Amino acid sequence: MSKRKGIILAGGTGSRLKPLTNAISKQLLPVYDKPMIYYPLTTLMFANIKDILIIVNKKDKETFKNLLKDGSQWGININYAIQEYPSGIAEAFIIGESFIGDDNVALILGDNLFHGHDLISMLRNTNNSTSGGKVFAYQVSNPEEYGIVIFDKHKNVTSIEEKPKYPKSKFAITGLYFYKNDVIKKAKDIKPSERGELEITSINQKYLDEKDLKVEIMGRGITWLDTGTFEGLNDASNYIRTLEKRQGLKIGCPEEVAWRLGWINKENLIQMANKMINSEYSKYLINIVNE
Ligand code: DAU
Repeated sequence: MSKRKGIILAGGTGSRLKPLTNAISKQLLPVYDKPMIYYPLTTLMFANIKDILIIVNKKDKETFKNLLKDGSQWGININYAIQEYPSGIAEAFIIGESFIGDDNVALILGDNLFHGHDLISMLRNTNNSTSGGKVFAYQVSNPEEYGIVIFDKHKNVTSIEEKPKYPKSKFAITGLYFYKNDVIKKAKDIKPSERGELEITSINQKYLDEKDLKVEIMGRGITWLDTGTFEGLNDASNYIRTLEKRQGLKIGCPEEVAWRLGWINKENLIQMANKMINSEYSKYLINIVNE
């Protein structure tokens, strides 16, 4: 079985979040107690993906590197690439071609946050899946703002559409995509849409045409939030705060995930905690190893 690499797409203009994004990349903004990118990063880690490419704007590369380094502190490999202009989500596979090599790939949008029951097993199973393309559908109240999927009464996919004015379904396609290596070729073959972007929906359409697109529904037990607006960002922070406060457990903490997965040891974790001494986050890391 081929290995799977991971890409986090963390470019874009952040235009809907200005002035917050005038000087800092959207994916580095805080979602309660950690930078936004920690959430998609740990989602890939839970899927057992250790080789990760982060695609960023040129001006933000050094800041991302200062935060995430080469990933070895968390037992993973992090590489960086630049997207010169936000010309579409599907461009990630063209930019990432040499990084992906002969492997399969998972792409996650840097502003998507997933959490919940059975998520880890869903991710693990998907990583081992053999379908050409695999995406997740999630019921939302505002489907017109997403790529959507339309099912027949047997839950077979009949069509997919990008941000339709009059959506025929409430199921949005989330920003987490698993593909076989041929996605690189597909990304090179598609044409820009009317808004001038290489659309991820065009890639999914190709797999659907080949009857090789699997769509799994993420049920109510899973939370999927996107953080692209002030309201969405605030909702996500409140969600994380509420759960973390209630349970005394953190969501999306790469140090903890790496340690629980056995990718780093107790001493590595304590060392990282000591570098952030005085913060709640550091105390949390010390507490979990001593429990
Ligand atoms: O969140 C899921 C949705 O993401 C899907 O349902 C849609 O099918 C998909 O098109 C996308 O819709 P968005 O409207 O959320 O896409 P947006 O242009 O906001 O881009 C999503 C993230 O990807 C955003 O944080 C910026 C980043 N991005 C986007 C583009 C187009 C890049 O880094 N480079 C790009 O070229």
